[in-house]
This record gives sequence, structure tokens and C-alpha cells, in this order.
Amino acid sequence: MTGIRPLSWGRRYLMCRPEHFRVDYAINPWMDVDSAVDPDRALAQWDTLVATMRAAGAEVEQIDQLASTPDMVYAMNYGIVDGDHVAITNFRFDQRRPEAEAAEWWFGEAGLRTTRIGDAGAGAFEAGDAFLVGDSLLVAAGPRTDVGTHAVLSRELGVRVATVPVVHPALYHLDLSFCPLDETRAIIAPAAWDAAGRRTVEALVPDPLVIDEAEAFTFCANSVVVDDVVVMPAGVPVRVARRLEQWGFTVATVDVSELHKGGGSIRCMTLPLDTRLDAARLEHATPERRAAGDGDLVTV
Ligand code: ARG
Repeated sequence: MTGIRPLSWGRRYLMCRPEHFRVDYAINPWMDVDSAVDPDRALAQWDTLVATMRAAGAEVEQIDQLASTPDMVYAMNYGIVDGDHVAITNFRFDQRRPEAEAAEWWFGEAGLRTTRIGDAGAGAFEAGDAFLVGDSLLVAAGPRTDVGTHAVLSRELGVRVATVPVVHPALYHLDLSFCPLDETRAIIAPAAWDAAGRRTVEALVPDPLVIDEAEAFTFCANSVVVDDVVVMPAGVPVRVARRLEQWGFTVATVDVSELHKGGGSIRCMTLPLDTRLDAARLEHATPERRAAGDGDLVTV
């Protein structure tokens, strides 16, 4: 069995129970306002997800859902945590904006400092589009995040940013095409990115599990890793699960099909609270890495 080198994060999460989950509007290709949501089923599936996360060894904290924001259940999108600092999302669509305020309040109560990314006109930035990978913060530029925010993120967080252009409308957040597994491995769906983006990811992930578009459409990249347990949506292709098991991971599946109606799965519902972006900090970068992009915004 190949040794797993667990991620430095992924043991503590913020989640939002779907008390008011609905599909009232369509802001991604998965959402259909005519397909009814079964509220009890959504709640039961979410409760099972929390139990599975806890059984995997994760701690789960909860924020109450605002009745007016049906998508608030997708907690991943509120912001990206860096130790005691949170870069808060600047949502693309008006319908989700109140979630950022609710999250800002929650983080404040929890004793964290918050910064709004994109306030100064840099554009939209949605968490779910950014992951710490190797020595970089890998950030999407695409349907939900404007490239103009990358320099802001780099400056505000003091990190090296690597840009990955997302060009697939249905794989609109990076967490639908990219799932960090451990220090060298990730599930990747290159169908989501342009050629430059593919090269960027290739340079950052020595050991990828490559999936195709059809596999990505099962939301299997929208999974969560707690040490060596991968919590995945039911329907994950057998090939993908087997590969993870060969690597030494344990695969735990949960049926969250009701929540898929909003265009999100397990990762979308879980915001990691224990991320520290130290490995991407600019002051730790080698001179070559810093020189590559003026020490600020760097694209591999
Ligand atoms: N309906 C939500 C939206 O379109 C789903 C968000 C999914 N979240 C994610 N991290 N991919 O914004």
C-alpha cells in the first residue's frame, strides 16, 4: 500500500442544515425551478452526511440557515479560512449575497477576522474556487470568480496564487473538478479547464486521479477528505472508488441526491475551518518562485 501523506487540514467544518432548502432560481445548469425538492429527504440526507463526517473523525459546527437564502446550505462558498482570518466571498449573484453577511457575522462570533474580497471593484470571488495545493493557492478564473480578484487574494492573504481558467459551465466551481486528497494527490477533471489551466494543475499535482466529464458529472470530485477517509456522494464511479482504495483511502458514500438539485454535493456543503495557507505564503517561496511573477501574482 502506498503511503498517504494526509492534508494539513480537513478535520473541522462549518455546515448549514437545509431547513429552508429550495430551488427558487437557476444560477447554474443543474438547477431547475420546476423540479420539486423534498424537504424531509434533504434534511435526512444532510443528517446522514453529518453523521458520516463525524464517524470519519471530523468535527462539525453549524450555522442556521436564513429562510430567504435557499442556497445557504452550500457553506463551502462563504469564504476561505486562513488560520484566524477569513477571506469572505463576493458572490456573483445577488440571490446569495446575504449569505456572505450571515457568514461574516458567524466568523466574527467565532473570533475570526474577516476581509471582503472584491469589495473594491475587483469582481466576484467565490470560495469553492480556491484550494491550497503544494506551494500555491490554486484559484479558478471562470463562471464564479473574476481573475481580477486573484491579485487581491494574493495581497490580502500574502500567498502565491496559481490561476486555473474554468471554461465548463456545468463544472462552474473549482470544487466540481478538483479534490485535494493528500499532499501529492488530487482528483482532477481536466474537462473543466483550458490548456493553460491543465498545465498549471499538472505542475502542482504529482499524482492525479484523472476523471472524465461523465465521471465529474456524478459530483465525485465534490468530495471531502478527513485524513484517509474520502466522504463521497453515492454514485461515485466504481473505477474511481477502487483507485482511491488502492492508494489506501477508505471510501464512505452518502446519498445527497436531493441536495444535488441545487448543483452542489458534499464539498459544497462543508466549509473547512482548519485551513492555514502557510505553505503558499510568499515569504516562504524560493527566489525563483517569487521572481516568476514579481512576488505577487504568479501563474505557473
Ligand atoms: N446553487 C448554488 C450556486 O449555484 C450551488 C453552490 C455549489 N457550491 C459549490 N461549492 N460548488 O451557487
